[in-house]
Amino acid sequence: MTAIIFRIILIGVLVTSCFSGEITKVTPDHFPYQALVAANIESASGALISTKHVITLANYINGSATVTVYLGFRNIPHYAKNLNEIQGQIIKSKEIIIHKNFVNIGGKYINNVAIVVLNRTVQLSSSVRPIDLSTEPPLPGLYANISGWKARVDNPLQYYPVRLHDIDTCIYQYGNSILQTQELCFQKFSSLSLNLVGNPLTNNNRLIGFLTYSLRCVISSTNCNADNAIINLFPYVKWIHTQIGIEVNSLDSGDSSSTREHKMINKILNNDIKQSEELQRLSQLMEVKSSECKTCCSNISDLQQIVQEMKENYGRVKKDLGAVLLVQNMEEKKHNDIITDIKRMNETVHNLLQKLSVISMLPDET
Ligand SMILES: *[C@@H]1O[C@H](CO)[C@@H](O)[C@H](O)[C@H]1NC(C)=O
Ligand SMILES: *[C@@H]1O[C@H](CO)[C@@H](O)[C@H](O)[C@H]1NC(C)=O
Ligand SMILES: *[C@@H]1O[C@H](CO)[C@@H](O)[C@H](O)[C@H]1NC(C)=O
Ligand SMILES: *[C@@H]1O[C@H](CO)[C@@H](O)[C@H](O)[C@H]1NC(C)=O
Ligand SMILES: *[C@@H]1O[C@H](CO)[C@@H](O)[C@H](O)[C@H]1NC(C)=O
Repeated sequence: MTAIIFRIILIGVLVTSCFSGEITKVTPDHFPYQALVAANIESASGALISTKHVITLANYINGSATVTVYLGFRNIPHYAKNLNEIQGQIIKSKEIIIHKNFVNIGGKYINNVAIVVLNRTVQLSSSVRPIDLSTEPPLPGLYANISGWKARVDNPLQYYPVRLHDIDTCIYQYGNSILQTQELCFQKFSSLSLNLVGNPLTNNNRLIGFLTYSLRCVISSTNCNADNAIINLFPYVKWIHTQIGIEVNSLDSGDSSSTREHKMINKILNNDIKQSEELQRLSQLMEVKSSECKTCCSNISDLQQIVQEMKENYGRVKKDLGAVLLVQNMEEKKHNDIITDIKRMNETVHNLLQKLSVISMLPDET
């Protein structure tokens, strides 16, 4: 008995130590935010950061009218034969937002960040789910995962752990081609390389950055085997959140326009953010439930549909609000109409959330 337990422990230790530091092939549910963004010829990885937004490098897609985004795929969707994976989703872009200070100076891209707005919201599933941006500055010594694919070969989704270097080590390795405030570099434990640019770097389910080129790579080729640097997304968090409408901080302007109505709108918007998050959490919970519980399955997919619609409505309302706040001499009546609308919607969501909470608390039927 003791011998068996000992053997199990031993196997456990051996398995852990021989996999740590190596490249591991995984199914998309391990990295459900992983995206491939295909422009005209080349494609790069990216990460899904909301049900409608993917973040990636600006340089591939700058100048493209539209791009195609592949989500939930296991084998690199660059190859046509991999496109019929049933859990995969293919969505065109509706808009491409390039960072306004994106430039190329002496072969080096600066502010190489772009957001792809999807033409429709993704269908949330275990293989397709957004990731939040890390709101903490990434510290040297931090362990993180690089996930994604190798460039220009047919290969499955994989990841490997890395450890962030301090800036002195980065400068030593890359010389002054490393941008100290917007790039990071890392220590690798594997000799292999997931060198497709745009591959996300994450820690505990928070997005820290994505692979970019070293100076050498930019000049020589897009398929670079030298170690790439990481774009540090931390300096861009505020910009990204503003673009995708998560943060609304232009409301507290403090002048005469901060009337009672404005305060009310502000309050609703803050509440809305919490509710959006709550909706997101619940729809994930329902996803799990629907696979566990057969009989209430149809109810759950109905509710998922409602949640999805609710989220889209929110997006629209937020746009309306933005417009309201920009127009100085808004008629009192119109203003009040909008507030009434929003209040009504808030109530609906509130009730819906309660209903959903009850359902998702139900014990599993076995
Ligand atoms: C981005 O695209 C625009 C328009 O095509 C172009 O003028 C600009 O030079 C490009 N920027 C970079 C850094 O390539
Ligand atoms: C976005 O979707 C709409 C409706 O499905 C379609 O008419 C439109 O052409 C699409 N736009 C792009 C850029 O694919
Ligand atoms: C890296 O990914 C693996 C597999 O999903 C996960 O178990 C591990 O916690 C991740 N490590 C970090 C630092 O996020
Ligand atoms: C939203 O609705 C709930 C439930 O009716 C209510 O308690 C809450 O105060 C409302 N929030 C706002 C900002 O009106
Ligand atoms: C779930 O479905 C059953 C049968 O279709 C129905 O009677 C019940 O009202 C539904 N429950 C909810 C919460 O929609």
